[in-house]
Amino acid sequence: MLSQNHSGVLHKFKGILFSTLSSEGLLSSLDSFDAREDDVFLVSYPKSGTHWIAEVIESIPNARITLTSPIELGDISKFEELKLVCKRRVIPTHLIYDMLPVTIKTKQCKIIYIVRNPKDTAVSLYHYYRDNPNLPCIDTWAAFLEKFLRGDVVYGSWFDHLLSWEEHKNDKNILIMFYEEMKKDLSKSIKKITAFLGIYVSESEINKIAWKTSFSEMKNNAAREDSDQKHTICALTSNRNLVFRKGAVGDWINYFTSKQKRVFDELFTKKMKHSELARYFED
Ligand code: A3P
Repeated sequence: MLSQNHSGVLHKFKGILFSTLSSEGLLSSLDSFDAREDDVFLVSYPKSGTHWIAEVIESIPNARITLTSPIELGDISKFEELKLVCKRRVIPTHLIYDMLPVTIKTKQCKIIYIVRNPKDTAVSLYHYYRDNPNLPCIDTWAAFLEKFLRGDVVYGSWFDHLLSWEEHKNDKNILIMFYEEMKKDLSKSIKKITAFLGIYVSESEINKIAWKTSFSEMKNNAAREDSDQKHTICALTSNRNLVFRKGAVGDWINYFTSKQKRVFDELFTKKMKHSELARYFED
């Protein structure tokens, strides 16, 4: 539903747009964030399936983890709160590689990067903008798409985000996941994640996690939790109803005109010509 009361403004930090929830003070003090060796970072461009992976990790039996809010949201006191977490921390972020706090790199923390077809990501982000009062008002899909292509949206350009992470795709502490692969074979993707985290999970438990993290199950649970005002993973998003829309692959076809597709593809070819990861999304 289109919200009429958007009050969100974006502000630029190091050339990238952030929401009002990420203060400049917090962003400039990111390097004071103290990572722990067993931290797991869940990295994505917005609307790529962050909540999905988070739910998978939270559903692993005996994982003894705590999902936190993204490091770039809130204020500096969040870093103090994070120090009090006793369990293994799973920390989401939408930051590009270069902006990641330095201790995450020096301590070689495990990082899961999830990537999704950019056209579907653009459509999902368009809906998120329309429904989320913390983001600026946008008029039409066409106007939004122009902004998306310019990187004039929250967390900047999809293309530059992927390219910043692509350089590290072979680092042994980084696991790249594709949204579309998760849709194709969720159990296989769950096994990849648990193996990467070094947690043994039996075949029957994998099947249970796959059932619990199916789109319908997650969407129904979110609706129930929001109506009960009970947020089990509110650390990531307080209004979970905004997150679960269609959960589909290829929904972009219902939005892009043939001209918009051509413009998008031209930019994609130009920007991503050296990207191996982007080849996955070539039509
Ligand atoms: P749509 O808007 O296309 O439906 P994020 O968690 O990074 O904000 O991404 C949100 C997108 O992931 C939304 O896409 C949401 O529906 C989709 N998503 C969340 N959980 C999912 C699941 N279990 N299966 C498939 N898609 C899921």
